[in-house]
Amino acid sequence: IEIAGIVNLFDFEKLAVSKMTNMAYEYVASGAADEFTVRWNRQALDAIKLNPTVLVDVSQIDTSTSLLGLDLPHPILIAPTAYHKIMHPEGELATARGAGAAEAVYVVSSFTTTSLEEIAKVATEPLWLQLYVRDDRSFTKDLVQEAEYQGCMALCVTVDTPVAGARNRQQRVNFALPNGVHTPHMHDAFALTKSLTWKDIEWLKSFAKIPVLVKGILNPDDAEKAVETGVSGIVVSNHSGRNLDTVPATIEALPRIAEKVNKRIPILMDGGIRRGTDVLKAIALGANAVLVGKPICFGLACGGAEGVTKVLGILRNEFELAMALTGKATIAEIDSSVIWK
Ligand code: FNR
Repeated sequence: IEIAGIVNLFDFEKLAVSKMTNMAYEYVASGAADEFTVRWNRQALDAIKLNPTVLVDVSQIDTSTSLLGLDLPHPILIAPTAYHKIMHPEGELATARGAGAAEAVYVVSSFTTTSLEEIAKVATEPLWLQLYVRDDRSFTKDLVQEAEYQGCMALCVTVDTPVAGARNRQQRVNFALPNGVHTPHMHDAFALTKSLTWKDIEWLKSFAKIPVLVKGILNPDDAEKAVETGVSGIVVSNHSGRNLDTVPATIEALPRIAEKVNKRIPILMDGGIRRGTDVLKAIALGANAVLVGKPICFGLACGGAEGVTKVLGILRNEFELAMALTGKATIAEIDSSVIWK
């Protein structure tokens, strides 16, 4: 199979195996420990059945939505993933170009291997920064200010990684960055803080000029605290099963969180989104938008910017088909009535 023959997101992973170094492939594909949560993310989405409504005029499908003041043509964002230069030599520049062609917001990882300045030069769609807070809070403050200076439109503070999980597959391949690949906004040391609390979120909000979201919420009580802390949005995420194994699938956590949040702030979700029907299910169960991680990495590995665009294009097209086939012409019409109960 070659990129021209790819018809769905799973095909990208099959092709990527032959395009990536084993170390890079293992880095992207693996989860923590026994990878239960990795599998559950997919299984839980697959297990949800859809309830279509027929004889609805679906001649005009409109996937547009608004999020944090941005008008988006579709609700599919690029999740922050580290180290794009190990997946493709053009790294994050290719990702940003691919995002641009696919009209998608790109959430740049703190562990980007290309500077925000360079990425911003080629980006034609909004960039957000995913933020890992470090022990040295002044370092983090400088990074936030650099992100603002480069035009990033939101911050996603990752809150599910005080420590990295038991990443056995990465251990087996002795994962390390190849020579010449650097992380300009993190330096090379993994010096993330273990003392991050809601006070730090308040601190970030006190000086950030752009919306602050927290990424990595699974517990409805934490969602409530996020609303009380005044964040602009939350990302329901289990880090694609890379941190704590045996936490539930995100699609399983989503309805409880949506109930708690009760539309006070937008909810994004990631974890196992591979099909247009998955996007539809997430929105039906309370998400305003979704992010995709691994498929972007595999698309990048398979075809650089073109691969990234193709991943997003296939997913968006499948989402449109899913809307038409369930009788939902707009995002606003997608609600729990599309879920077979
Ligand atoms: C990630 N993820 C991640 N999250 C984050 O906040 N900062 C990061 O640097 C990374 N890096 C990273 C690398 C790779 C290779 C993967 C696969 C994931 C998690 C990511 O943002 C997102 O939560 C999940 O990837 C979404 O699930 P799927 O779509 O990959 O199943």
